[in-house]
Amino acid sequence: MYKENDLKLEYMDGRLCLIKNDTVFYGDFSRLKKRLTHANLTHEMPVKACRIKNKQMPVSVLDATAGMGEDALLLAAFGFDVTLYERDETIYRLLSDTLERARADEVLLGAVSKMKLYFEDSIKAMGELKEKPDVVYLDPMFPLRAKSGLVKKKFQLIHDLEKPCEDEKELLDAALSTALTRVVIKRPIKGEYLAGVKPDYSIEGSTIRYDCINIKAKGETK
Ligand SMILES: C[S@@+](CC[C@H](N)C(=O)[O-])C[C@H]1O[C@@H](n2cnc3c(N)ncnc32)[C@H](O)[C@@H]1O
Repeated sequence: MYKENDLKLEYMDGRLCLIKNDTVFYGDFSRLKKRLTHANLTHEMPVKACRIKNKQMPVSVLDATAGMGEDALLLAAFGFDVTLYERDETIYRLLSDTLERARADEVLLGAVSKMKLYFEDSIKAMGELKEKPDVVYLDPMFPLRAKSGLVKKKFQLIHDLEKPCEDEKELLDAALSTALTRVVIKRPIKGEYLAGVKPDYSIEGSTIRYDCINIKAKGETK
């Protein structure tokens, strides 16, 4: 169907798959089902980082670096309205197919109906938005992850497509001008701040950290 270098994109068993030699990758939200109960979701780090005190749900989140949409799924399952932007065409097509298949699953349907995916560069798209989201969520690829020997072979296929972020400043600037309340940035626990900008606070797990920057109202000082 589609070939780039030695990677192929092809339908197998009703799923759009990324294939390299004998390794096959496809999106699969069903393995996340156990994490989607409300009680579990309140402990999920992306949810904790995006929640806004005293703001009625649904809070709107713009996921500016969609990837395979797994963080966005957790947010949508919790009840956020999530808009996703993905600029790599192969990843966009794999995620579209994953979302489409998830719509046929009654456990996943509620969450995926709160996710809207666009094939766009979010830096450009955020500059043109008419309605701003409460939160912008960023998870650009970080170099550490690319080299990690811990990534399983099939997941390495998708990581090969994700290029390390070379426009950190543009991405963060666009997010800061777009979010009404907060920008949330996913980082490796020991990773540097995105574009060197110190967050207001961080939520830390064992390997991942969420840096949070609150948007100050005009005239408000720190
Ligand atoms: C590390 S992945 C995100 C993983 C995602 N959080 C998940 O849960 O699956 C980063 C993704 O962001 C995309 N990306 C990076 N910069 C972007 C931009 N400016 N606009 C849209 N997508 C972007 C990359 O193509 C890549 O697919």
